[in-house]
Amino acid sequence: MENRKLSICMIGFGNAGKEFCRLLIKKREEIKDTYDFDVIVTAISTKSKGALYDPTGVDLSRALHEVESEGRFSENNPKRTDGSTLEIIKKSGADVLIELSTLSIKDGQPAISHIEEAFRNNMHVITANKGPIAWDYKRLKRMANEKNLAFLHETTVMDGTPVFNLVEKTLPGCRVLRFKGILNSTTNFIMEEMEAGSDFETALKEAQRRGFAEANPSMDIDGWDAAAKTAALINVLMDGEVNPMTIDTTGISGITVKDIEEAKKKGGKIKLLCEGYRENGRVKGRVYPAFVDNRDIFSKVDSTTSILSITTDLMGEICIVERNPEIQQTAYGIYSDLLTLIKEWF
Ligand SMILES: NC(=O)c1ccc[n+]([C@@H]2O[C@H](COP(=O)([O-])OP(=O)(O)OC[C@H]3O[C@@H](n4cnc5c(N)ncnc54)[C@H](OP(=O)(O)O)[C@@H]3O)[C@@H](O)[C@H]2O)c1
Repeated sequence: MENRKLSICMIGFGNAGKEFCRLLIKKREEIKDTYDFDVIVTAISTKSKGALYDPTGVDLSRALHEVESEGRFSENNPKRTDGSTLEIIKKSGADVLIELSTLSIKDGQPAISHIEEAFRNNMHVITANKGPIAWDYKRLKRMANEKNLAFLHETTVMDGTPVFNLVEKTLPGCRVLRFKGILNSTTNFIMEEMEAGSDFETALKEAQRRGFAEANPSMDIDGWDAAAKTAALINVLMDGEVNPMTIDTTGISGITVKDIEEAKKKGGKIKLLCEGYRENGRVKGRVYPAFVDNRDIFSKVDSTTSILSITTDLMGEICIVERNPEIQQTAYGIYSDLLTLIKEWF
């Protein structure tokens, strides 16, 4: 008997998109055997590498090979197609949109319009792009609910580590009162290097050399990446209505080697903390560098590791740690949402 088909339209074919495709190629047979679904990608849209469309399923190995060898989808690829990303979403006829385009911290666009277009065309949505969750979660979730469509976003904070699923699926009846996290690896790494004797500039260069700080590092250093994650957590876990600009944000550019040495003398470290909390009936967020005592579990969060502590009314405080993630953990987050979709929505 033929497997049922599940088709994907992918927006973005960068680090996350390519790694997700590698995982999909590896897992395609397992998904068929376990869930009786043949998962195919019918369209891929990028900003500058071109777009592919094949209603019977794009050849993902070929797409990966072309981008790796030519830096774009080949002019000779018969499945190359024209059109804007919005047109490709519509044309794809896919069951699910996977939004993996570049994060825009200032407004969450154009990812928000990609997701709206998907819902208009009755497609489920999985996003690893946190912009739409940080900027417009409530409205998009309402759009999904009205059409009985899934809107999944596990990868937006701490990659595939269950953060949203942890609360939604394993803490029934609990109300999240507050949370605290270390969620930006670049700043964590820089301050750790400074503790070991580097100055700020050298530490930043080392982070860039190792490939986890952007060429323009202001998103991390000034706290905007952390603010977007804080906003996403507040909007989903605490039923708040904030965006990255309403998070009270201070980055680490003002932190000196002297501050770090003083923290060391006092028996601690400086960490960039992300917090969501309730105050006078409102949910608020802040990102700021703070002293953390060496006896605190947060002081042990080193290098690119992340931690999130969630305090609930019924279950008290729970901490979850993601240890030194690589791009595979991002791909897993998207894959885990895909399996949730198959198991719970089809
Ligand atoms: N990498 C991670 O570890 C990680 C972890 C969690 C979440 N995320 C999120 O996942 C998303 C993708 O991350 P990434 O690391 O793969 O980024 P990336 O390597 O920079 O790739 C971004 C992709 O989006 C494409 N793109 C940009 N604007 C577009 C548009 N308007 N229409 C269609 N495609 C567009 C780019 O096209 P071109 O190729 O032509 O430039 C590129 O293929 C981001 O939102 C990121 O924040 C990433």
